[in-house]
Amino acid sequence: IFAQNKITAHTDKAETTINRDIYGHFAEHLGRCIYDGFYVGEGSSIENVRGFRVDIIDALREMQIPLLRWPGGCFADTYNWKDGIGPKSERPSIVNVHWGGVTEDNSFGTHEFLDFCELIGADAYINLNVGSGSVREAKEWVEYVTSANKSPMTEWRKQNGREEPWKVKYWGIGNENWGCGGNMTPEYYADLYRNYATYCHGADYKIAGGANVADYNWTEVLMKKLERYKHIVDGLSLHYYVHPGGWGNKGSARDFDEAEYHLTMQKTYYMEELINNHSAIMDKYDPKKQIDMIVDEWGAWYDCEPGTNPGFLYQQNTLRDAILAGIHLNIFNNHADRIKMANIAQMVNVIQSVILTREDKMLLTPTYYIFKMYSVHQDATLVPLDVETEMYTVDGKEIPALNASASVKDGKLNMTVCNLNPNQEEEIEYAFDGDYKNATGMIVTGDKLQSLNDFDQPEEVSLKEFKVGKPKNGKIKLKIPAKSVVLITLD
Ligand code: AHR
Repeated sequence: IFAQNKITAHTDKAETTINRDIYGHFAEHLGRCIYDGFYVGEGSSIENVRGFRVDIIDALREMQIPLLRWPGGCFADTYNWKDGIGPKSERPSIVNVHWGGVTEDNSFGTHEFLDFCELIGADAYINLNVGSGSVREAKEWVEYVTSANKSPMTEWRKQNGREEPWKVKYWGIGNENWGCGGNMTPEYYADLYRNYATYCHGADYKIAGGANVADYNWTEVLMKKLERYKHIVDGLSLHYYVHPGGWGNKGSARDFDEAEYHLTMQKTYYMEELINNHSAIMDKYDPKKQIDMIVDEWGAWYDCEPGTNPGFLYQQNTLRDAILAGIHLNIFNNHADRIKMANIAQMVNVIQSVILTREDKMLLTPTYYIFKMYSVHQDATLVPLDVETEMYTVDGKEIPALNASASVKDGKLNMTVCNLNPNQEEEIEYAFDGDYKNATGMIVTGDKLQSLNDFDQPEEVSLKEFKVGKPKNGKIKLKIPAKSVVLITLD
């Protein structure tokens, strides 16, 4: 039978690099992401290096984490970086007003963050405080971290034990300044951005706080007011979270039926529409694509696990989330000409995490395995695909059953494909240019959409080998199982 689905890879049209920072992560001072997450302190009985969990360091290195954003999120616009510097016993405690009103003892600050980035082999992205900070504080923070010259800030850094400046790849000028970052109008924020960006010498790559979901007016105003200031703006961010039930009752992370799954997938595909629409506005003011799109918060955000602190945003993670992550990353890859960075929220124990911990136990979520599988795309060259796909229909609503992206690197053609349909295997005729002779595969799937890894069963969903036939005459027949994400490597 001739396959209903056809994917054609145009290796001859491969030209855009997929920036590895599309595979970035995010750690905010929120719930158990940092404290009681990857940072347990030197006195902990859990094995650690300078307070950082060894099992987490190993897992992140294995996943090839390229980039970490910090300290927020909403927390960033309340944060005074000077509280987190110097001897820990002298650092002041503050109230974390956005996230549960808990005490923040500032034992994790700039030195700890940059030390951790070095340990996991990731580049750093620091988000400055615009909402409640000042231009001077931001300027001094950048100087403290990046300057090799003599100044009160660099002398202070040296006193605190760091002789050489660090390299910080990205700096964010505020976060969600339309909301928790100051409830500003786009006009007011754009002016503030210009003011901050002028004085943050040493911040080589600066990101303007972008729109919430479909707030196209925010993008329009920012682009218009920054059009003549491209020398001080490198990226514009976009935030979009999937919550199947809406903001109020987001829905359960683990108890859902097929209709809710389908709705989650519809909302996942919406990311593509958002990117297209925001890009069209950016193209108007920046046809040469000098300003990058930075999706620095994305993921599936559900109601928190029953019995946990509602301010901590702890949720479980199922096969549904693995598929959702696979689609998002395919979409980002396919828009690699404009999107240069993305950060899933958040790395450990918060929203759509790749790692969950309970005391000394740690588990890797289904989403972790997607990041590990997709690491082949990091810094590879995007291969445009034509995808002819069957539809997956529930209650009369149709969405594409298949979603894919591909890239070439080191003579290998890698395609990642998601089959969203939980009820049906999809047969695909996969055609490509190039003389590839061998095919191998990897898969993330599970018994049901609700399959997850728990502390007593940590490997229910993981990355497994997937058997494929041999390519012949530039073609291969694939059978992609229901509810799965598959990597096909040709060499
Ligand atoms: O990731 C959780 C929160 O979501 C962030 O602090 C904020 O930027 C967004 O609203």
